[in-house]
Amino acid sequence: MSYENILTETQGKVGVIRLNRPKALNALNDQLMTELGEALLAFDADEALGCIVITGSEKAFAAGADITVMAGYNYMDVFKGEFITRNWETIRRVRKPVIAAVAGYALGGGCELAMMCDFIIAADTAKFGQPEVKLGIVPGAGGTQRLPRAVSKAKAMDLCLTGRMMDAQEAERAGLVSRVVAADKLMDEALAAAITIADMSQPVVAMIKDSVNRAYESTLSEGIKYERAMFYSCFATEDQTEGMKAFMEKRPPNFKNQ
Ligand code: CAA
Repeated sequence: MSYENILTETQGKVGVIRLNRPKALNALNDQLMTELGEALLAFDADEALGCIVITGSEKAFAAGADITVMAGYNYMDVFKGEFITRNWETIRRVRKPVIAAVAGYALGGGCELAMMCDFIIAADTAKFGQPEVKLGIVPGAGGTQRLPRAVSKAKAMDLCLTGRMMDAQEAERAGLVSRVVAADKLMDEALAAAITIADMSQPVVAMIKDSVNRAYESTLSEGIKYERAMFYSCFATEDQTEGMKAFMEKRPPNFKNQ
């Protein structure tokens, strides 16, 4: 499959998607988001893969939704065209873990896209922000909802109301990113994490992803109930038998995704 706004490749069991509109700092237009959704679903359907990494360039993960396109929209354009809902959240349908490897700007929709991924690994050059307020709009792809869940109400209010950027260190302290690494090590680190995940039992990985997401979308008791059901389900897999046998035999497990 060839795309105009993204580059895709596989590295072993990992699918890599690179956002690629360098002249516009990877601004997210409709075509790019459609291509991203198609690439994600194709990687998700590929049984040879166990994890997906989304990245951008050294300068920008993505500088947000494309302002030059939005500038021409009126209410009916965005409402009838289902702007955002139509193709931005395809990523939420992906069952495999998706890691955002972020260098440079992750602003507006770029920050929101990174937050839709399962976790973010940041280069020390990364800058996160929701600057929509400066354009006379509110964040439209989950910024006011996912950011407070990731970094607390105070920090989310600060970022969304002032439109300021936070650097990678502040983002790590706030809990938005899981790790910060030197910029030239970003892809090595993200790929190493992705390979580690891809070597685990894939049904179990999918159950963990689903269970952690429940923590954000249900009450504690509902989430615990869901986790318990997943936990019991693991004992119906061959991989649970293999994982525990391998531990007792002091060898690495050989998961078959069964
Ligand atoms: N949309 C369209 N084009 C963009 C863009 C965007 N979001 N961000 C940058 N570009 C373009 C610039 O217009 C410029 O194009 P030209 O060379 O043709 O003029 C090119 O990318 C390089 O950008 P700059 O010259 O501005 O680069 P810089 O290094 O001086 O500044 C920046 C970088 C601080 C990221 C700055 O480009 C910027 O502030 N961009 C806009 C960020 C923003 O407001 N994002 C939120 C968008 S709204 C949104 O995302 C809504 C939502 O919630 C879904």
